[in-house]
Amino acid sequence: MTACIVGWSHGKFGKLDGETSESLMVKAATEAIAHAGIEPKDVDVIYVGNMNGGFVRQEFHSSLALQAHPDLRFKPSTRVENACATGSAAIHMGLNTLAAGKARFVLVVGVEKMTELNSTQAGEVLIKASYVAEEANIEAGFAGIFGKITSAYFQRYGDKSDALARIAVKAHKNGSKNPYAHFQKEFAYEFCRTPSDKNPFVAGPLKRTDCSPVTDGAAAVVLADVQTALGLKHAIAFRATEHVNDFLPMSKRDIIKFEGPQLAWKRALASAKLDLLDLSFVESHDCFTSAELIEYEAMGLTAPGEGERAILEGWVERDGKLPVNVSGGLKAKGHPVGATGVSMHVMSAMQLSGSAPAGMQLPKAKIGGVFNMGGAAVANYVSILEPLR
Ligand code: COA
Repeated sequence: MTACIVGWSHGKFGKLDGETSESLMVKAATEAIAHAGIEPKDVDVIYVGNMNGGFVRQEFHSSLALQAHPDLRFKPSTRVENACATGSAAIHMGLNTLAAGKARFVLVVGVEKMTELNSTQAGEVLIKASYVAEEANIEAGFAGIFGKITSAYFQRYGDKSDALARIAVKAHKNGSKNPYAHFQKEFAYEFCRTPSDKNPFVAGPLKRTDCSPVTDGAAAVVLADVQTALGLKHAIAFRATEHVNDFLPMSKRDIIKFEGPQLAWKRALASAKLDLLDLSFVESHDCFTSAELIEYEAMGLTAPGEGERAILEGWVERDGKLPVNVSGGLKAKGHPVGATGVSMHVMSAMQLSGSAPAGMQLPKAKIGGVFNMGGAAVANYVSILEPLR
């Protein structure tokens, strides 16, 4: 155990007209510093998680965090990018900085403003997180990549559309209890299962309700070393962290095995000296419902090809043996790319400190797992979190 989350903040996710990445960052940074009970002058180092790639014209984001307070002027701040795992990548940079003894307090802000573009344009930005030389001509943006993965999975193991619809229903049911979520309403199983005008096919077997939405939002955490954290009000410790990158081209991998996520989970659990079912919950990267399905297998909850059991038998519901995405996940909470990894850590910190919104709070949240993924199982980050005391 080397470091802790000692403060956090989470804005409402959604289509936030009138907000900019700057305004979202300022609010998130200000609130996280206040929540940690420190002063802006106490922040030593800042990391900004932002993917951008064309979502907004303002590309250079690091110093926008300094707009939160005059005392942040002259602090070193760096933008970090690792596709959809950008938020976790920024947190890992913060943890490395603490481990190197280069800071007492690190502020990490994750932000993305996606909705200035329509869904098609957003897809054109997101597809840059594929192996462009071979994969970028696929239709429907990044949904096309997961459409292809889902088709390959169905070919090997059979049509799992029932399970995918159940995963969407679970996400929206959980999201309806999360005031920070983009979508806060339940979706009926028949609606998610059946293609319709309101739920058309987007890519391969994936319908609209199988996709995370295009979302704006920001979240922030303050990190500190354990010694410092002992003197503070909030202290959620990193029991283990892992980061595994796989090859980028899907042609170099058996893509439905999710070998990178598998290795990241295996190493993180070994380093934490835990079994998967010792965790009270997991926040997992459900950019598409089929991603969550394959992640059940990668985390070791089921054997390969049997991921559907986890959802169809209720294991991953909020009252199941391993609740997955009680926040609503990316599917309902939204997926503002640079903010997502930070958001997953904030949602987990809320659960573990007993301060999650009523209805979302789990009765017994002792140890939590976070899995955040950039690209199609390319940049894989696992954190295992527990309260310091
Ligand atoms: N799930 C459920 N409902 C959704 C939705 C989603 N992902 N996206 C949009 N909707 C709803 C909207 O709220 C709207 O509802 P309303 O008619 O009741 O107001 C309706 O669908 C139409 O919204 P619109 O934005 O016009 O939909 P769209 O067809 O342009 O976009 C997707 C839908 C799925 C194509 C888009 O959200 C998308 O591209 N998602 C994937 C993003 C992605 O690739 N992220 C990176 C992952 S690694």
